[in-house]
Parts: sequence; structure tokens; C-alpha cells
Amino acid sequence: MPKLPKLPAPPLPSALQAPPPRPGEGNGNLGPIEEAKQAGITVVDWVDERTSLSGAGRWLMFRKVPKGTNWFYTLGSATLFAFLSQAVTGVFLAMYYRPDASGGAYESIRYVTNDVFLGQFVRGMHKWGSSVMVVLVFLHMGRTFFFGAYKYPRELNWVIGVVLLILTMVMGFTGYLLPFDQRAYWATIVGVNINGTGPLIGPYLSDFLRGGSEFGATTLSRFYAIHMLVIPGLLAALIGAHLYLVAKLGTTAPPWTKAEKRSELREAEV
Ligand code: HEM
Repeated sequence: MPKLPKLPAPPLPSALQAPPPRPGEGNGNLGPIEEAKQAGITVVDWVDERTSLSGAGRWLMFRKVPKGTNWFYTLGSATLFAFLSQAVTGVFLAMYYRPDASGGAYESIRYVTNDVFLGQFVRGMHKWGSSVMVVLVFLHMGRTFFFGAYKYPRELNWVIGVVLLILTMVMGFTGYLLPFDQRAYWATIVGVNINGTGPLIGPYLSDFLRGGSEFGATTLSRFYAIHMLVIPGLLAALIGAHLYLVAKLGTTAPPWTKAEKRSELREAEV
């Protein structure tokens, strides 16, 4: 009797079918670099599946940029970079700094400068970085002002910017006292007294800054807390809000491109 052909196996119900290979489960012949890439993709996919963060990332990073954008538009990002550099170098300085008015503060700064590996370099970066950040904030503010970026609908971002400017200055003012040497001490007394001459709130402000009527240990720990915790926290939160608005509203086109467009429109009307 002729042999009958074998019937094909019945299809498996989908629950029993082998799942498609997951990223990273290739045919097993991937090289180490490919394996490492796949591992990275798997981790990112795992996080993204649970958070949908890639959508937010795309929204933030892939934006339309107006025609004519130039180097002046990088001043905001440069300020952001200066802030991040201050944050990182500040963390390393905080590992050694002691807010002790009876000589400990000065001694800890002396120790960082003279004895810690790369201490003078990191302290220098923080010290010069503070001036760089102040200059960049002003240049960035000038750019947004002269390009008319403070107008509707970006007024709120301008207001947040003004607060960022004030906070940046407060960082400089409070940081200056921390070495607690003669220059820091007397310069800050002058600064606090100038604050005291302000209308209405001036005397309260200088009392608050001193931590009473006397300039001393409380003043130093107060300046340290403001410099280390209060203002960096506020700066980080407000920079987040500032960048959210930049991403949401887009950047302003340079004024001359608008002028070109206006004249093009006028020509079209004629
Ligand atoms: C810590 C300080 C600051 C940081 C890190 C920062 C960061 C940025 C960044 C990254 C942008 C987008 C890119 C650009 O236009 O340059 C931007 C835009 C903007 N910033 Fe700032 N900024 C700061 C302070 C200020 C200040 C002091 C003002 C004004 C008082 C300001 C007003 C604006 C405005 C109005 C825009 C929108 C620009 C446009 O639409 O073209 N920012 N900022």
C-alpha cells in the first residue's frame, strides 16, 4: 500500500506559540559590541514601556527652529552649562567646606586650595565660573530683549528670567562670604548694609541676612544654607519651568526675518 503523505501539524493556539525574539535575543551570533548595543536598547525600551518618557524627550528635543537662528541663541544654553558646572564643582567643594566662623571655614578653604588633589583647580572653576555665569545671564537677557523675545506669548518666560537673574546674583553674594577671610567679611558687611538702605523692607532684609543685629557665626551658616540649598533648588526648578516654556512656545525668530516677511507680505498685497 502506498505511503500516505504526513498531515501537517495542527496550528498551535496563539498562547502556546513562541513569542517573537525580544531585543537582545538574536540568533546568538551577535558580537560583543552588538550585544552591548542591544542590552542598552532593551533597558531603554523597558523604561520607556513603563513611563513613555521618549515622547517627552522627542517633544523637548525635536522642535522647529525659526529661520535665521544664530550664535546669539546659544547664550541661554551656555548659561545652563555654566549653572551645571557650578553645581558639579560646588558639590566637590561642599565635601571639604566647614561653615565655621571661628577659623574652620577659612582653614577648610585653605586646605582645599593647598592640599586637596585638584582642589585649587575645582575651586578656581567655581570662583571664575560664578563670574562667567553672571556675564552669560546678562548677555542672554540682552539677546532676548533685543530680539523682542519678551513679547507675547513669552512674557511669563521673561518674568521667570528676571527671577533667575536675581537668584544668580544672590548666589554670587552669598558665595562671596564663604571663605570668611578679611575681604569676604568686610565686603559682605558692606553688601548687607547696602541692602539695609532699601525702602521699607531694607532693614528687615539686612536683619534677616545677618541673622540678627550682629554679623557673625549665624550669618555664615545662614549664607551657607542659602547658597547651598535654597537658591540652587529654586534655580533648578525655575530653569525647568523656563525650558518647558521655551519648548512649548518655541524660540522667537530674529527681528530681521520678521521684517523680511512683513515686506514680502506687503509686496504680495500690492
Ligand atoms: C539661570 C539663568 C538662565 C538660564 C539657564 C536660561 C536658559 C534659557 C535657554 C536654554 C533658552 C532657550 C535658548 C535661547 O533662547 O537662548 C532660554 C530662552 C529664553 N530666556 Fe532664558 N535663561 C536664563 C535666564 C534668563 C533671563 C535672566 C531672562 C530675562 C530676564 C531670560 C529670558 C528668556 C526668554 C524670554 C527666552 C525665550 C527666547 C526666545 O523665545 O527666543 N532668561 N533661556
